[in-house]
Amino acid sequence: MQKKLNPNAPIGFIDSGVGGLSVVKAALDKLPNEQFIYLGDEARMPYGPRPAQEVIDYTFQMANFLVDIKHIKMLVVACNTATARALPLLQAQLPIPVIGVIEPGVKGALAATHNDQIGVIATQGTVEAGSYQNSLRASREDLSVIAVPTPNFVQMAENGQLSGDDAQREVDATLAALRESGVDTLILGCTHFPFLAPLIQASMGDQVTLVDSGRQAIRQVVAALDELDLWATTPFSHDDDIYYTTDAVERFHDLAKTWLNEDVLDVRLLAIVDEHLEEA
Ligand code: DGL
Repeated sequence: MQKKLNPNAPIGFIDSGVGGLSVVKAALDKLPNEQFIYLGDEARMPYGPRPAQEVIDYTFQMANFLVDIKHIKMLVVACNTATARALPLLQAQLPIPVIGVIEPGVKGALAATHNDQIGVIATQGTVEAGSYQNSLRASREDLSVIAVPTPNFVQMAENGQLSGDDAQREVDATLAALRESGVDTLILGCTHFPFLAPLIQASMGDQVTLVDSGRQAIRQVVAALDELDLWATTPFSHDDDIYYTTDAVERFHDLAKTWLNEDVLDVRLLAIVDEHLEEA
């Protein structure tokens, strides 16, 4: 049941870790006068190998904190694994609009492909859930879709291993089969991967279009704010944004500062207490 929404409430973003910052980064320019609250569940990252029910439970814990305690007006599930496992449940149970990253990524790929051969790289959980494959094939039966789990890219992003010969070699080795496959479009089906985009592009070649599903999702956020008349009426600045992590604040702060190109960010610790999250 949707409640009356307050346009001056923040927009929430959730991810298992720092990957969702790629979605925030895409959103900062497009939504300059909104307040963001980000939550990365670093203590329980990665979500990719976890059983579906565990991902659903953790995702609801994050969503409930943002809805019940921070009173957000909209939730962006800036994590493909959480979107694949929990989006319909979140949309059915939360009293606010919830936007995931998979449908927008599918739309972006359909618009980009010329040879109807699309690759997807994602976590094990996202590939196993089949959301990209099913949704692409439901849109166009004749598409050839190859989905490959690349969980090592999550660790590379979390470790800040984003350039250099060793990193390029690892990306090349991981993408060998996809490079041979003839895809002309590759969906970055994990929000950690846009930080590795230069390495992935160099590996796949310029003839392959990379689709950043998180960036595509922001278009959907803009459309939803328009449609629901939910743009903030008191303009905020992104100095008002808050970043929560369930693990080391300093490490999160260092990565986030570099990736978002900001000097100082308000990063706070959230404690995992029983089955919920609370400010430490
Ligand atoms: N960033 C997350 C995603 O988009 C997942 C990384 C992980 O926790 O395995 O799927």
